[in-house]
Amino acid sequence: MSAVPVITVDGPSGAGKGTVAKLLAEQLKFKILDSGALYRLTGLLVNRAGNGFDNEIEAAELASSMQVEFTVDGVILNGEDVSLAIRTESAGNDASKVAAMPAVRAALLDWQKAFAKMPGLIADGRDMGTTVFPQAPLKIFLTASAEERAQRRHKQLNEKGISSSIAALAAEIAERDERDRTRATSPLVPADDAIVIDSTSLSIDEVVQQILTLWSDRS
Ligand code: C5P
Repeated sequence: MSAVPVITVDGPSGAGKGTVAKLLAEQLKFKILDSGALYRLTGLLVNRAGNGFDNEIEAAELASSMQVEFTVDGVILNGEDVSLAIRTESAGNDASKVAAMPAVRAALLDWQKAFAKMPGLIADGRDMGTTVFPQAPLKIFLTASAEERAQRRHKQLNEKGISSSIAALAAEIAERDERDRTRATSPLVPADDAIVIDSTSLSIDEVVQQILTLWSDRS
């Protein structure tokens, strides 16, 4: 794995990681790991199982047995297209509940590591630089003010035809961030050697350019 170039892009919800990761992957012709999708899929299965979010063993079993296929514009879970179902705010919230369970994180760990393939990988998540790819030569921690993140999420959901209120989104994002930051296993923190980029007043292209410059300095 160490020979495969990996750029990790971690940070809180709505900081623009997904878009930045996609553009970086296009520019560098690297693959992408959307690790949040794996937690969202697990959350969806736990929700559908209907036994609540307190059964860690059940959640870990669902995580390790799910069949997932990433397509160009979505994701197929056990044969069903769930691309839209996993993108709602409540699916994000369910994801962060299962993401706080160490057994779920353990069930998804090797799977995530296996995404590291030549010619390289952009790994998008919360613990890519700290836990999944600690050897990555370039680690980015992308952040933005809470207000800006709520605005961006609102716009993103609108574009997908999902209606939302900015105030409700801000509250949900704050709740999710708090759970992600304070959990015991792989909390949302920058790796010691991560470069923190605050994107509040930067365009996506400016963020991507900064990262590409950092990458070319290193390679
Ligand atoms: O990035 P996304 O919003 O899709 O992530 C959904 C949730 O999954 C996050 O709020 C977080 O709780 C969890 N997650 C995580 N570790 C990752 C990626 C996502 O805990 N590497």
